[in-house]
Amino acid sequence: MTMSDHPTPVAGADRHDLHIRDLTVEFTKGDYTVRPLEHLDQTVPAGSLALLLGPSGCGKTTLLSCLAAILRPTSGTIAYGSTEITTLSGRPLTDYRRHGVGVVFQAFNLVPSMSAVENVTVPMRSAGMKHAQAKQRAIELLEQMGLGDRLDHLPSGLSGGQQQRVAIARAVALDPPVILADEPTAHLDYIQVEGVLRLIRGLTDGGRIVIVSTHDDRMLALADQIIEMRPDFVQSEDVAPRAVTVTAGQYLFRQGDPSDLIYVIDSGEIDVVRDTPDGEIPLASLGPGEHLGEMGPLFGLPRSASARAAVDTTLTGYTAATFRDLVGAERLPSLIRGR
Ligand SMILES: Nc1ncnc2c1ncn2[C@@H]1O[C@H](COP(=O)(O)OP(=O)(O)O)[C@@H](O)[C@H]1O
Ligand SMILES: [Mg+2]
Repeated sequence: MTMSDHPTPVAGADRHDLHIRDLTVEFTKGDYTVRPLEHLDQTVPAGSLALLLGPSGCGKTTLLSCLAAILRPTSGTIAYGSTEITTLSGRPLTDYRRHGVGVVFQAFNLVPSMSAVENVTVPMRSAGMKHAQAKQRAIELLEQMGLGDRLDHLPSGLSGGQQQRVAIARAVALDPPVILADEPTAHLDYIQVEGVLRLIRGLTDGGRIVIVSTHDDRMLALADQIIEMRPDFVQSEDVAPRAVTVTAGQYLFRQGDPSDLIYVIDSGEIDVVRDTPDGEIPLASLGPGEHLGEMGPLFGLPRSASARAAVDTTLTGYTAATFRDLVGAERLPSLIRGR
């Protein structure tokens, strides 16, 4: 089956895996070249939530643009089932962009002069759906998103979290089998994020693939798969393990600090705590042989918690690259989710 056989060839119950093969994207500006994606290989199974993690500039938006068929890669392929996305053009390309993927942006991108319902009807109307039918579906979707009492509000009358839920309803309006979200929680406050994360997780029901770029470490626990994106130059530094001593009460690192090393405790005890506006929440108390602080260095995130010595403690600090060799790269996702 090719994209042109049916107007909505990949919608409905027909769910597939997504295959990214040897994907490279190169941008040339004058006489220098940026290569945010280099020989990327990934398979995202039907029904799973994949996270793109990595520091700013590592190619997350670039990859999502390729998956949305907005950007053509320099080389390599992306296939949804047997549909090769990277070579589509003309009508099949329009069909794919309309029915194959739904996109949720960081900045919501709602039409300011349209109500919540009208915003959600936009893709359905441009796909030729009758107004009454489109409106009915928009209302149902918004009710599912908990916005039944906000149907006629303009975006300016909605909170950030509510606007992002409207944007999610719009992205799923034509029931695409793939949803892409580019830092969907970046402009939301702490409380609003929870509802949006739950909705995003729920989008995988029925075999849909959801791919999300994020800096929010609360998404890690929800993900089926983590796609680690980092520019090569971050990895190249391979420093020898370093011995570190902290005395009782002293901080090894604080929440929000830039992340450098991953630590293994040699002797003593470290308390890991999260700082919240309401005070400190204890997360773990770790002893000899246990490791801590792996999330930040591995994914280019700031420290998500503080680590303080309960008693005089000695540790060994490893760079992300050395630590990866130590535990084996294939064990990392389960190791991190086990936290
Ligand atoms: N259209 C473009 N032209 C030139 N360089 C680009 C373009 N889009 C992205 N880049 C560069 O590619 C790299 C990756 O960008 P991006 O995918 O936006 O990263 P992220 O979303 O992870 O922050 C950056 O160095 C960026 O400057
Ligand atoms: Mg980006």
